[in-house]
Amino acid sequence: MNITDIHVVYFSATYTTRTIVREIAKAIGGNIIEHDITNALPESEIRLSGDNSMLIVGAPVYVGRIPEAAAEALKMVHGNNTPAVAVCVYGNRDYDDALLEIKDTLNGNGFHTFAAGAFIGRHCIFPKVAEGRPDAADLEKAAAFGKRCAQLLADAAGTDALGNPEVKGNRPYREAHKVPMCPTGDKNTCTKCMTCVRLCPAGAISESDPCSTDTSKCIACGRCVVVCPHGSRAIYLPAYAEAAAKFTAAFSARREPETFF
Ligand SMILES: Cc1cc2nc3c(=O)[nH]c(=O)nc-3n(C[C@H](O)[C@H](O)[C@H](O)COP(=O)(O)O)c2cc1C
Ligand code: SF4
Ligand code: SF4
Repeated sequence: MNITDIHVVYFSATYTTRTIVREIAKAIGGNIIEHDITNALPESEIRLSGDNSMLIVGAPVYVGRIPEAAAEALKMVHGNNTPAVAVCVYGNRDYDDALLEIKDTLNGNGFHTFAAGAFIGRHCIFPKVAEGRPDAADLEKAAAFGKRCAQLLADAAGTDALGNPEVKGNRPYREAHKVPMCPTGDKNTCTKCMTCVRLCPAGAISESDPCSTDTSKCIACGRCVVVCPHGSRAIYLPAYAEAAAKFTAAFSARREPETFF
């Protein structure tokens, strides 16, 4: 198959998923068209033909699933027997049903998922876990995964000649639930620059008081913590330190990317 256009659709609040899918797309090679669905639904439906386009979808793992907003956005992405690659990025605990959820969604929307991968990124709630990841070794594995995808595409006469991999995960998927770990701002250091207000995927931070958070909207994605230029936003909850220590002790053993063809 001669693939010229690689559409890359990703949800990535703290940018680890984006880093991985960009590396994969670069290794496949072609004209890369990015669709960032972190902060908004696509402006219009994304419809890809099976002729010379392919799709890579990347989403982080939130409690064993993909974020609800990512699932909503993926409803707007349609293929026509178009080759697709499913990618999830998780914080070194587990990815449970998230990769399967992406694959099922894509196949249900007219794509043919011929490759899938679960990669590891720094845990955005407990950042001592998988700190610094994806690192150089992860990027090498992402590139090798992309090259293998490119080879499979080049060798296939058409989409139907591509494989249909089994990926890890169970149906019904784990029940989705929120994590009550919402960051807030420190009034002593906040300059009201509004970066967090602008970039919060959930619209949970108000312009009038950027140090507070609407906990009914917040998805605990950690983006405000990483984008605040003054380090003002953090999880200041009393229960956080103990939870972080326990989680870090339980899930620090390094996990490695897994790929499925
Ligand atoms: C609400 C929430 C739930 C999470 N649940 C999991 C999980 O079930 N397993 C895991 O290993 N990491 C989990 N993580 C960590 C993220 O999957 C990880 O940090 C990922 O790299 C974030 O991707 P991003 O940088 O593209 O936003 C969770 C993070 C959040 C915000
Ligand atoms: S307020 Fe919540 S949803 Fe908004 S960026 Fe911060 S962690 Fe994410
Ligand atoms: S990004 Fe930081 S400094 Fe800017 S408004 Fe938000 S909390 Fe304040």
